[in-house]
Amino acid sequence: MSKTYKIATIPGDGTGPEVLREGVKVLNAATSKGGVKLEFTEFDFGGARYLRTGETLPDSAVEEFKKFDAMFLGAIGHPDVKPGILEQGILLKIRFALDQYINLRPVKLYPNVETPLRDKGPEHIDFVVIRENTGGIYTGHGGATRLGTTDEIATQLMVYDRRTVDRCLKYAFELKKKRNAKDKKYAAKPITLIHKRNVLTYCGDLWYRAFEEMGKKQYPEIKRDYNHVDAANMWFVKNPEWFDVAVTENLFGDIITDLGAMIQGGLGVASGGNINPEGVSMFEPMGGSAPKYARMNVINPMAAIGAAMMMLDFLGEAKSAQAIEAAMIASMKKMKSQAAGQMGYSTTDVGDMVAEMV
Ligand code: IPM
Ligand code: MN
Repeated sequence: MSKTYKIATIPGDGTGPEVLREGVKVLNAATSKGGVKLEFTEFDFGGARYLRTGETLPDSAVEEFKKFDAMFLGAIGHPDVKPGILEQGILLKIRFALDQYINLRPVKLYPNVETPLRDKGPEHIDFVVIRENTGGIYTGHGGATRLGTTDEIATQLMVYDRRTVDRCLKYAFELKKKRNAKDKKYAAKPITLIHKRNVLTYCGDLWYRAFEEMGKKQYPEIKRDYNHVDAANMWFVKNPEWFDVAVTENLFGDIITDLGAMIQGGLGVASGGNINPEGVSMFEPMGGSAPKYARMNVINPMAAIGAAMMMLDFLGEAKSAQAIEAAMIASMKKMKSQAAGQMGYSTTDVGDMVAEMV
């Protein structure tokens, strides 16, 4: 008996469609042996549609998305559209409207992938950042007055409530518990809360107390650690092997996961999931639309393939997900580089290679 999952795809802008196509190719290969069937429905939201129609993402689309098992996104961002419009109107709107409150970003260096960190290898870089994905400064509280004058004032507030903090921490502790059970090398490491509680004495304190309380009461067997975000940056570079599961608020998570992407080999290989554990989740390569590489068949689809793997894993198809990861590792071993245009293969070649090996 075969199980069918309905997947909404948004190829989006720039190189988005090219990398998404390879992700879909690999997904089809991974599920072709039976047991699982994927049914894709494509949506054309993105910069081109916005320029044509003035529409970013209608509310009816959000309702439509709720009927799917998962979503798969290429990239959103267009050079002819003012920054903020597509980000807020599409990407952030999806995250908020579908309450995708976890942004899961694995930072894993695969064999044969180059890291800018000298003397660090796959044994040192294998952790996950859990970024709170719906609160904080991203909620858009704030405003500007005396606009355009020399006395202009602007505020942008970091907003958190206990429920939002607790549900994110819960997800992080549960993931840590799972990883500890899977491998002793993970169990030896703590879960790390990252914030800036020496300065953000209200929000930082809320996160810290919630973390300590939940850890003590519900997960006493899990070691806890805390880093200020500036120090965490330093440790990501100097001692990435100290991390296993790191949990943090939205903006800090945005910033440190770009650093994470670099140490794992760049945006060509970094994937993420916008997760609502009780709802519809969306998986995406972390890189943007990279317009300068669009339609050249040179962009690395590995991050999109990694996102596809995360999606299968999230859907409960762990075996197929593992098969994709193994094929990714084997393919990366053959590639000259993970950088766009320097792979020794084209975008479609890489997709073919991974698809053949799953
Ligand atoms: C990311 C991106 C987005 C964010 C932008 C495009 C709104 O940088 O997914 O990390 O800030 O969350
Ligand atoms: Mn970002």
